[in-house]
Amino acid sequence: MDCFSYKNSSLFCEDVNLLDIADEYGTPTYIYSRKTLEQNIDLYKQSFKNKNSLICFSVKSLNNLAILKIINDKECGFDIVSYGELMRVLHVGADPNKIIFSGVGKSEMEIVEGINNGILSFNIESESELQRIERIASKLKKQVNVAIRFNPEIDSGGHDYITTGRKGDKFGISSENFVLKLCDFINNSSNLNLIGLACHIGSQILDIENYRLTARAIINLADKIKKTGIELEFLDLGGGLGIPYIDDIVPSAANLISLIEEEFKDRDEKIILEPGRSISGNAGVLLTKVEYIKDDFLIVDAAMNDLLRPSLYKAKHDVWNVSQTQNKEKNWTIVGPVCESSDVIIKDHKIHALENDFLAIKTAGAYGFVMSSNYNSRMRCAEVLVNGSNHYEIRKRESFSDLIKNEIIIND
Ligand code: LLP
Repeated sequence: MDCFSYKNSSLFCEDVNLLDIADEYGTPTYIYSRKTLEQNIDLYKQSFKNKNSLICFSVKSLNNLAILKIINDKECGFDIVSYGELMRVLHVGADPNKIIFSGVGKSEMEIVEGINNGILSFNIESESELQRIERIASKLKKQVNVAIRFNPEIDSGGHDYITTGRKGDKFGISSENFVLKLCDFINNSSNLNLIGLACHIGSQILDIENYRLTARAIINLADKIKKTGIELEFLDLGGGLGIPYIDDIVPSAANLISLIEEEFKDRDEKIILEPGRSISGNAGVLLTKVEYIKDDFLIVDAAMNDLLRPSLYKAKHDVWNVSQTQNKEKNWTIVGPVCESSDVIIKDHKIHALENDFLAIKTAGAYGFVMSSNYNSRMRCAEVLVNGSNHYEIRKRESFSDLIKNEIIIND
């Protein structure tokens, strides 16, 4: 359940009318509901019967500092993939001992920063990365915790671009024997401690039976590692739980956790999950204005540079008119101003709309603002956080000087 609903014919986020937000901050603007975020986190946390668990929010899905602060205050950990994400979470006071560093291409600098900041673990994705971490750890004379990201070769469905756990995907290590070989390497190193195994099979997963297969695969491998004398502290099943965009039927975090706990009964390892979308997705909308109507097109002021998902993955986001009226609905194709034919938010969408109306593009909290760009020299949106009847600008709309601040004209 999200906290966007109609009251007196106008769409509200919690107790704030979206028309007031349009008035105060302009459009396009991302709007997030604090209550929705907190409810989503509570659902994850309260569903665990076994309290030996950790939710590491996947920062890549939504990374505004104000949001990360709220998530940190809920005592979550963080799943990060870059130096920038590490710095963001440390900036809001994250406990380093709850930070997991994933990603196939960690640079020397990122590894040094992770080590010096004492993060919980690096999720290792290749032999070369493992060797690099060992080299840096011994140079820094530090003990470094690592987990191996195992690729269980499960096709979790969904768009090709967001499926990660199949044979041939670039993530993780597919062969069990190779994982065991890396375990030996770690065992023989005086600077590395193997503390976990990790998997992440994809994103927008609608069939949670895929998690059962993943849990079984990871448990099976953990048992093989145990035979070599290594007791793992955690097993990390990654993120990926799907959410309803338009007509998807999705399991809840509670369903997912009861399935995982069923598979993990009698296990001592801590369970880690790395949800992103299922925490941030329905907590945000992108508010946009209808600039022009032409034929069957609604031309709005938000574009693919603001919300890339429809153009990149043919993802469908529901779009609501902020004002409910008796006007007749018709099928519109909603497009943005960017000069690309793929700058389409949604095709054949039944809605009533007039020029100057405000529309809310729903379920845009995850992979929305974070994937935005300055394409066509468009300034990135403002972000606003709603808490009850209060609203706060948590990121200013970019200005022309923001747009050019790192550019240098050469007077040659
Ligand atoms: N853990 C790892 C290692 C990941 O790579 C990801 C997402 C997550 C956790 C969080 O997954 P989530 O719970 O949010 O599904 N831009 C795409 C999604 C890319 C996901 C990348 N990895 C989209 O807009 O659908």
